Amino acid sequence: MISAKKLSKSIDLQGAHFTILQPTDLEVATGSSCAVVGPSGSGKSTLLALLAGLDKATSGTVTLGDVEITALNEEALARFRRDHIGFIFQNFQLMPTLNAVENVALPLQLQGRNDAHQIARQWLAKTGLDHREQHLPAQLSGGEQQRVAVARAFASEPALLFADEPTGSLDGPNGEQILELMFDLNRDQNTTILLVTHDQRVADRCDRQVALVDGRLQ
Ligand SMILES: Nc1ncnc2c1ncn2[C@@H]1O[C@H](COP(=O)(O)OP(=O)(O)OP(=O)(O)O)[C@@H](O)[C@H]1O
Ligand SMILES: [Mg+2]
Repeated sequence: MISAKKLSKSIDLQGAHFTILQPTDLEVATGSSCAVVGPSGSGKSTLLALLAGLDKATSGTVTLGDVEITALNEEALARFRRDHIGFIFQNFQLMPTLNAVENVALPLQLQGRNDAHQIARQWLAKTGLDHREQHLPAQLSGGEQQRVAVARAFASEPALLFADEPTGSLDGPNGEQILELMFDLNRDQNTTILLVTHDQRVADRCDRQVALVDGRLQ
């Protein structure tokens, strides 16, 4: 389960105070899928980053399963993320000096798995990128980089998957393939999915949708 209580984010910028996310309560049941929709700048990526423990909340709590991650120290939080969370960033966040296989293998290696490269190759094949294993991110198209980012997030078959516009750079057939992989994980591994999308057809495939407008959950 993903549970947020009175979760908020504000920043001070050049003397001015901005609230990016108003105090928000949200619950996503284990094994379910939820889409976050809303206009550009409404706080969707911020909400996702807070729920996944990638950004620090101004107030409120986030509980994932039975762990209140907002109460963990940096080291415990990093370990929790490594073991339980997959995250697809809106801007991919691939390591520029690592090729496609190495990018996908990295989180698995951090988990201490010695089959990391083998698993990474399998997931690259599933995302249709087996012919691009040795390419560096800069040598890949935007859509190919997105598929590496997807493979990296899926490869450890995490209990919780956060996906920020996971099909944003993909054409119809490639986007469809990624969505099928994602909902396969949801069905077969009981993966809880929280995704951000601008595509209403993608949102409609989730069990539930929530909308953000001006940092406020509707
Ligand atoms: N670190 C930051 N410093 C200053 N402003 C920020 C910061 N992070 C986010 N913002 C602002 O907060 C608002 C929400 O940003 P966010 O990235 O969450 O929006 P979004 O809903 O994901 O938009 P998009 O659909 O364009 O990706 C934006 O107006 C953005 O400029
Ligand atoms: Mg965003």
